[in-house]
Amino acid sequence: MEPSIYILGIESSCDDTAAAVIHNGKILSNVVATQKIHEEYGGVVPELASRAHQQNIVPVIALAIQKAGIDKKDLSAIAFTRGPGLMGSLLVGSSFAKSLSMGLNIPLIEVNHMQAHILAHFIEAEGQTKPHFPFIALTISGGHTQIVQVNDYFDMKIIGQTIDDAVGEAFDKSAKILGLPYPGGPLLDKYAQEGNPKAYTFTKPKVGDLDFSFSGLKTAVLYFIQNEVKKNPNFVEENLADICASIQFTIVDYLMDKIKNAVKATGIKEIAIGGGVSANSGIRKALQEAEMNYGWKTHIPRFEFCTDNAAMIAIVGELKYKNKDFTELSIGSKARMEF
Ligand code: KG4
Ligand code: ZN
Repeated sequence: MEPSIYILGIESSCDDTAAAVIHNGKILSNVVATQKIHEEYGGVVPELASRAHQQNIVPVIALAIQKAGIDKKDLSAIAFTRGPGLMGSLLVGSSFAKSLSMGLNIPLIEVNHMQAHILAHFIEAEGQTKPHFPFIALTISGGHTQIVQVNDYFDMKIIGQTIDDAVGEAFDKSAKILGLPYPGGPLLDKYAQEGNPKAYTFTKPKVGDLDFSFSGLKTAVLYFIQNEVKKNPNFVEENLADICASIQFTIVDYLMDKIKNAVKATGIKEIAIGGGVSANSGIRKALQEAEMNYGWKTHIPRFEFCTDNAAMIAIVGELKYKNKDFTELSIGSKARMEF
């Protein structure tokens, strides 16, 4: 009989304090405390994030263990996010993970947050399809924009990434210019669905074939709005849906161009997306169309596994546990981290 393995995953790299328990590929609990404090500042304030993590971490972990219906003594190992992320935030999760691992005398497993976004596809859950190796992963969120060639669970290569802002920032900063509250991405998406995507045109930024740049788009949106508001002070209110639809169309088209370039460069037609921006209706629709038009196979994880969460940390923990890939208690956190 297979041994009963229970792994606790802890995620604290940015502004979500999260804990999850996994058992044989299935998530038993997945708890996320999203920090509301940043809303009034229009972006994540690192110092406030660390403080909120410190307040949230114990109740979040206790709840994850309770919801999983186990006792902490049943845990086989503790997996935690080592990086990349905000140092003060990472330190809270890693210190707690180390203490728990020492207290329970069970192994500690370090997890790379970006690898976890990709390996979240391997969680067994209804509505999830597992990609086959090799595949292309597109990780799109408020903190990251990467194209990764995934040859095996732990054999990944970044083949493209943003040279400035992340795509989620492009959504949020554009939304802010339109007066929408932070984080504006989901709202921009909502209005976009009622608008005409061809109403206004924004030039797509030009960088390398597989790299991204979003800072120019933000400036283009800002100048466009400033110019129009001079002529009509009610321009934004009167045309909100069309403006949102046009911005979203530009971003989605740009993302699709890059995926097409990646398919061309690698010959791989299996695409898996992850990160908060995968919730965007435009990118979801474009990927579904690409399945039919180009014969691609695409995978979009359940939303709870797309945004920052600890279930993705737990699945990596389980995969590493099987390889006995444990780490020392003296390990340090890393704000920047390659694969
Ligand atoms: O993965 P995530 O929860 O956190 C990190 O940034 O790591 O991603 C959050 C980002 C935010 O920028 C948010 O505006 C964006 O994902 N987002 C969306 C949508 N839902 C979330 N952007 C566009 N359309 C959406 N539907
Ligand atoms: Zn993330």
